[in-house]
Amino acid sequence: MSIFASDALKGEHVLVTGATGGIGSETAKVLAEMGALITVTGRREDKLNQMAAGIREVMPDADVFTHAADLGNEEERNKLVKSAEKAYGPITLLVNHAGISGGGPIEQLEQEDMERVMHLNYTSTVLLTQLVYESMKKQQKGAIVNVTSLSGLRGTYGGTAYAGSKFAMTGFTHSMALEAIEQGVRVNAVSPGFVDTNMGRASAEKKADRQGSSLSEVVKASIPSGRMTKSREVANTIAFLLTDVAENIVGESVKISGGSVLR
Ligand SMILES: NC(=O)c1ccc[n+]([C@@H]2O[C@H](COP(=O)([O-])OP(=O)(O)OC[C@H]3O[C@@H](n4cnc5c(N)ncnc54)[C@H](OP(=O)(O)O)[C@@H]3O)[C@@H](O)[C@H]2O)c1
Repeated sequence: MSIFASDALKGEHVLVTGATGGIGSETAKVLAEMGALITVTGRREDKLNQMAAGIREVMPDADVFTHAADLGNEEERNKLVKSAEKAYGPITLLVNHAGISGGGPIEQLEQEDMERVMHLNYTSTVLLTQLVYESMKKQQKGAIVNVTSLSGLRGTYGGTAYAGSKFAMTGFTHSMALEAIEQGVRVNAVSPGFVDTNMGRASAEKKADRQGSSLSEVVKASIPSGRMTKSREVANTIAFLLTDVAENIVGESVKISGGSVLR
């Protein structure tokens, strides 16, 4: 059940990357419930189709277009934007979820791994945004939400590559926000801590292994609310930032930390 009106994003065309993932699939559902035309992407076509079918099952009238693409590849990024715009017209909203973890403590960091993380989490995301921004600029309207992380706001043990890429996205978000608002386009970020997805659980388990404790002990000790964030909570925050209600929220990194990072 959505907390938003069923026509809150009517007429908007939103591109959701990382839509096969834990957070992205939930965001796609929330945005479909708000009446948006949605293009969903990820590399796994079967998972995309499954996800779109799941949405249509509960919302038979939902407009969902699927296009599988590796965002690390320039040609595939170009094709994605072209086919999305052919399906539903100019993209007016963009949610950048696609991201990977990787790297480790500095002694173990390998150049290849570091470049893989930076290439997707930063370079490819920025280049896709640049493509979509072209049509937003023509329309003099749009909103972009980058899913960064608390690791993009403060250091984390073993985060030399991942946190590095997310700090880069924070810098990108804040800088682009200043330029884009002059064109009527709002750019913000959502910065969650541990989210209850495969990626979030794997990262909490890594921390637990290092400390010789369990996942639930790590969660209790490091998050004042005592629990991981649900994907739906991230999705609802993204959805809010995409609506006109958030009209004067520009260049923010909205933390979802359960009280673990307060500043
Ligand atoms: N989970 C957490 O605790 C947490 C906390 C803070 C921030 N975040 C951030 O939130 C975002 C989503 O996280 P999640 O937990 O939902 O992770 P996830 O379930 O692993 O999803 C990652 C998504 O990225 C896509 N992806 C990976 N490589 C890609 C590529 N080369 N081209 C296109 N798509 C690609 C995956 O799709 P395919 O596999 O189909 O390609 C998948 O849809 C990430 O940016 C992550 O850094 C997560």
